[in-house]
Amino acid sequence: MGSAFINGTGSYLPEKVLTNRDLEMMVDTSDEWITTRTGIKERRICPAGKCSSDLGYEASLKAIENSSINVEDIEMIICATITPDMYFPSKGCMIQKKLGLNNIPSFDISAACSGFIYGLEIARNFVENKKYKNILVVAAECMSRLTDYTDRNTCVLLGDGAGAAVVSYTEKENTGILGSYISSSGKYGKLLYVPAGGSLLPASFETVEKRLHFMKMEGPALFKIAVQTMTESVLAILKDFNLKKEDISLIVPHQANLRIISSVSKNLGIPLEKFFINIEKYGNMSAACVPVALDEAAREGRIKQGDLIVTVAFGAGLTWGANLIRWEK
Ligand code: UT7
Repeated sequence: MGSAFINGTGSYLPEKVLTNRDLEMMVDTSDEWITTRTGIKERRICPAGKCSSDLGYEASLKAIENSSINVEDIEMIICATITPDMYFPSKGCMIQKKLGLNNIPSFDISAACSGFIYGLEIARNFVENKKYKNILVVAAECMSRLTDYTDRNTCVLLGDGAGAAVVSYTEKENTGILGSYISSSGKYGKLLYVPAGGSLLPASFETVEKRLHFMKMEGPALFKIAVQTMTESVLAILKDFNLKKEDISLIVPHQANLRIISSVSKNLGIPLEKFFINIEKYGNMSAACVPVALDEAAREGRIKQGDLIVTVAFGAGLTWGANLIRWEK
């Protein structure tokens, strides 16, 4: 039957850094509070005039360069995002144009922080079914554009960035993306959302005045569900593949809060050293967190040929899920 494997990864972070000290000047917070409650020290901000497809394009180029294929070999683009350049066209189409490609399917998926996990699973199905040989999965976010920099509950958490992976076909059996567990629960939607700007509450003077175009969040309630769903996702995938936790070399988690990752580690009985953590540098970049972490882990030598790794995330929707990957290039 063959397999879908990760042929290359790439990431791109805008240069501008927003530190905890900078935020101390903007809202009533402190470096000490942010560091101890979240693990975040700084995050990146996309400059005005640039947009998330620019970040996604740069990450895609790096992923393709890191793979065995050329740009023109890409047969489909799946873009995970909740911060598209605009309502439409899709960011998948924007990135297609920037890559100089044409006449291939390109689309966005909206699964918030779990978007890349969902994207890899969609790509796996197309590739394993031999419909397409090379699919670009890219996650790019400008969370700064949805952030209310007068709201200390959210503004300390978020950042901008992009990550990408080329998913390709190999004749080899049982390698690459072995499978995924994905799920969602719409009943929790209001725990994390942007009230205005959609068809329910289109932009008006009033929506802008009430700051309804910014992200609203119930932090403590989300925290608990995040720990529970990320733990369940890892356990579900281990069970599906009849694996023991010792079989996993590295877990690449969504980077929302270091305390969430620590609690998942404790629940699973898997030491924190087996989790790849870069939250201190970038904060929560929604769908981009997992592919940026995956790319850094691979480039830093934290993932070796043949390793079994798990990616895991949760996010608005609420959505959650995990991919099981045998790392063989
Ligand atoms: O990708 C999914 C996105 N979201 C998440 O994953 C968020 C999950 N939740 C969290 O990470 C945490 O709940 C937060 C980091 C958002 C908040 O941490 P917490 O430990 O749950 O704090 P809290 O909301 O219970 O607030 C504790 C205190 C409150 O003060 P009082 O009422 O005890 O006096 C807050 O007003 O901390 C205060 N606080 C802050 N203080 C300084 C909240 N935010 C800040 C801040 N700086 N930035």
